[in-house]
Amino acid sequence: MSFDVAAARAQFPILSRQINGKPLVYLDSAASAQKPRAVIEAMTRAMEHSYANVHRGLHTLANETTEAYEAARESARRLINAKSVSEIVFTKGATEAINLVASSFGQSLVAGDEIVISEMEHHANIIPWHFLRERAGIVLKFIPVTDDGHLDMAAFRALLGPRTRMVAVGHMSNVTGTVNPVAEIVAEAHAAGALALIDGCQAIVHQAVDVQALDADFYVFSGHKLYGPTGIGILHGKAERLVALPPYQGGGEMIGTVTMEAITYADPPHRFEAGTPPILEAIGLGAAIDWLRGFDRDAIAAHEHALYARVKERLNGANWFTEVGTAPGKGAIFTFNVEGAHAHDIAQILDRYGVAVRAGTHCAEPLMRRFGVTSSARASFGLYNTLDEADAFVEALTKTRTFFS
Ligand code: ALA
Repeated sequence: MSFDVAAARAQFPILSRQINGKPLVYLDSAASAQKPRAVIEAMTRAMEHSYANVHRGLHTLANETTEAYEAARESARRLINAKSVSEIVFTKGATEAINLVASSFGQSLVAGDEIVISEMEHHANIIPWHFLRERAGIVLKFIPVTDDGHLDMAAFRALLGPRTRMVAVGHMSNVTGTVNPVAEIVAEAHAAGALALIDGCQAIVHQAVDVQALDADFYVFSGHKLYGPTGIGILHGKAERLVALPPYQGGGEMIGTVTMEAITYADPPHRFEAGTPPILEAIGLGAAIDWLRGFDRDAIAAHEHALYARVKERLNGANWFTEVGTAPGKGAIFTFNVEGAHAHDIAQILDRYGVAVRAGTHCAEPLMRRFGVTSSARASFGLYNTLDEADAFVEALTKTRTFFS
């Protein structure tokens, strides 16, 4: 099946905006993707026609909303081929999902236990583990990154040992676009007797993910990068792992019984969904997933790769920029610095041409340090970007660099 970018693009109202008198060229989807009508309408419809709290009521609206909320859980299950909906926990984002695992799983750790992460992680997959280092004496080890931006797998193997309890790595880097060999990493972690958590925030957007094939104990992603709303994310945990985890937060709906002397907990996933959950956001995410499943994911991936390839082709021979991360097979993310210019200035000038890119550390300071830069600019592609936009970006960037040459 081929991918009709014009038809897909037409479903995103915001993309017809003008910025500074120029057509918007949105190249910041790795930070947050724009939303198709299917998502906007699903959330509006819920608010206008069928909204109440979930799992609590006996009236029609409560039942309808509970059904829609649980249908979204089933959509998420189907997207990643999880065994059961009880393995799908709604969180407020990937960050909360990782904090949940670190906090709850962390209670079983003792000083000297080791956690292996990598130099290319997003802060969301660094800081929660640092908390365990600070608070419980856990030893944090980092898989090094090679010059072209992939993980040094030999060094990874050397980091594993009898005290390794968890290996937590990203599936695809939000900076370099590197796609990590996560099935291999999970298998190595398991062979060492450790659990594995995969941060799938970027990968889930660009490729099919099968959690049963990957075999990770935990797989997390956020909704807003997947064309869904903010305030919602997914924690997938293997059933046996979630059952063994203590709750993260306490409140309504996560309990079995409560007396003045004792409490018992609900089974997963509800054990981890204390309080009124992000109901509308879950419904919006379900709509995003159902909408995305209407496309051939491989065709989208080929389209996105062509956008990246076009930028590289058009910049071929230019000696005034440096790309951060060029690992073979990388995803459609182009992170770069222009000689003599600060990345923030590049982003601000590009904005004058209507081109939206991110600049800064990309919440990945260890990786910036690894590449010897304090910041970089990043153009990240979504399914709605066109080859014309890739060209417009290169044209705007070429003009922008003349301010600094
Ligand atoms: N993690 C997001 C990014 O890479 C915010 O921009």
